[in-house]
This record gives sequence, structure tokens and C-alpha cells, in this order.
Amino acid sequence: MELRPPIVIASGVGGMGEYLKLIDPRYIGAYTLKTITFKPRLGNPPPRLIATERYLINSIGLENVGVEKFIEELENGLYEELFRKVKVIFSFAGEDFEEYLKVAERMVPHQDRFVAFECNFSCPNVDFNPLSDTSQLKKMLIELRKKLDVFLIAKLGIEGAFIEQLAELVEECGWNGVTIINTIRALHIDGETLIKGGISGPILKPIALRAVYEVRNRTNLYIIASGGIMDETDAQHFFEVGANAVSIGTALYRDPTIVERIAKRFL
Ligand SMILES: Cc1cc2nc3c(=O)[nH]c(=O)nc-3n(C[C@H](O)[C@H](O)[C@H](O)COP(=O)(O)O)c2cc1C
Repeated sequence: MELRPPIVIASGVGGMGEYLKLIDPRYIGAYTLKTITFKPRLGNPPPRLIATERYLINSIGLENVGVEKFIEELENGLYEELFRKVKVIFSFAGEDFEEYLKVAERMVPHQDRFVAFECNFSCPNVDFNPLSDTSQLKKMLIELRKKLDVFLIAKLGIEGAFIEQLAELVEECGWNGVTIINTIRALHIDGETLIKGGISGPILKPIALRAVYEVRNRTNLYIIASGGIMDETDAQHFFEVGANAVSIGTALYRDPTIVERIAKRFL
């Protein structure tokens, strides 16, 4: 996969393409859609977001319309403008291993429209953690690879086995890349309000940087770095430790023009 510029819009934060209204598509290497699951999900009850200077905590809980409805939208042309303007990455997940396969099966006829499929194995806001059982994960990686004939990316987190061991498994199973890292489980208390969710933003950067460094030293996978990339210097640091592309998430909420500024430096 060749992304020019090497900048990706992060899954979830970029919604289903809405940020194209705010960012010139020339500066977007690829646009990752919000994670789609087998069944529709309403997500978690509010409050679902708390923002501070150093971090954001979200407990959205993979709210999405489900794969059947998504395919209907796709066939009805809802995303035509998006496809015309940028490369699109399809992100998917399941509430158990079986569901990952079911989403993949349903998407096979549409796979050619996407530059890659990103399999979200690391959402901290759902009960199932696929990264905690490596033998099951390995079976799943093999099965998904057999089904899908696309550039296949595993989105890994740091909750489960060591990320470099997981990445080695991903490579061994014939996958093409990893997105590292996802948000990490966190908790915010403010008076009566308690929010349990996934933490993102500047606070993640050193953790994500270490993860990219370790994975680059152990694999030849395509690496999309994700976690706390807020400006050009952050992006530079991730390229220095071996990222192939950087993913912009929380920074979009602060200032979407950051994508253009990073792109101009790394085009
Ligand atoms: C509100 C919100 C929703 C998210 N939803 C998803 C999602 O649906 N799928 C996914 O793989 N990651 C999701 N993420 C994680 C981001 O894609 C990204 O990996 C993470 O936020 C770390 O990068 P950042 O610090 O640049 O935000 C979400 C993050 C936020 C803040």
C-alpha cells in the first residue's frame, strides 16, 4: 500500500467521511471509516466523552449501523463522493470471533472498493478482548486471511499480550500491516460524573511510540502509527521509529487543519 501523503484519518474520530468537509482531500492519504460490527450497536449511555488538555476519554462503545445496513448504504451510493475523493479503509469488528468472520464474509463482494481492511481487535469499550487469547487470535487471523483478498491490517492495542508478539503473529499469518495503538481503558472522575472509556490524545504518545519502535524492530509489516499525534513534530518522531504512515484522531477535534500542515511537511 502506498499512501501519499502518508496520513490516515483515524477510525471513529473521522466518522463516516464527515471530515471531508473540513479537510482538502489532497492532504488525506487514506480515510478510515468508523468500525462496523455484524449487528447494529447503539453504543454506551451518556456521558460518553470528556476532554482535557492532555487527554480525551470516550465511551462511545462502537456505535454503528451494522454490516447489513452499511452494505445497503454502500450500494445506494451514500459514500460515492468519499470514494471519488480519497482512498478508503474499511474498519470492522465483532462481539466474538465468529462475528469478525461474518462481517468479512458479507464484505467480500465489496472488498475491491477499499484500499485496505482494518480489523479492530482492540476496542476498550466492548467486553470482548481478542488480544488476550493468542491461540484463538491466530485461528482468526488465518481464517480472515483465507476469506479476504485485500491489504489486511490488524489494529492492535497494548491490552493483551505484548504488542510485538501479537504483531509477529499477524505477520506470520500473512497479513500486511498493523495500526498501533488503539485507545487504552481509563477512568475519569469529575464530581458526580464518572466516565469509563478509552483514553486518547497527547498522553498516549510515548506509549504508542514505544509500541511502534518494538514492532518495527521485530517485523516488516506496514505500520500505521496511532496515538497522540497532534502536530508535525509528533509525526516526525513516529516516522523516525519506523512508522509508514501516521493516523490523526483526537487532533481532529482540536483543529482539523493539522492534517494539511502535517501533509505539507511529509508529502
Ligand atoms: C471518539 C473516538 C471514537 C473512536 N472509535 C474508534 C473506532 O470505532 N474504531 C477504532 O478502531 N478506533 C476508534 N478510536 C481510536 C482511534 O482511531 C485512535 O486509534 C485513538 O484515538 C488514538 O489516536 P489519537 O490519540 O490520535 O486519537 C476512537 C477514538 C475516539 C477518540
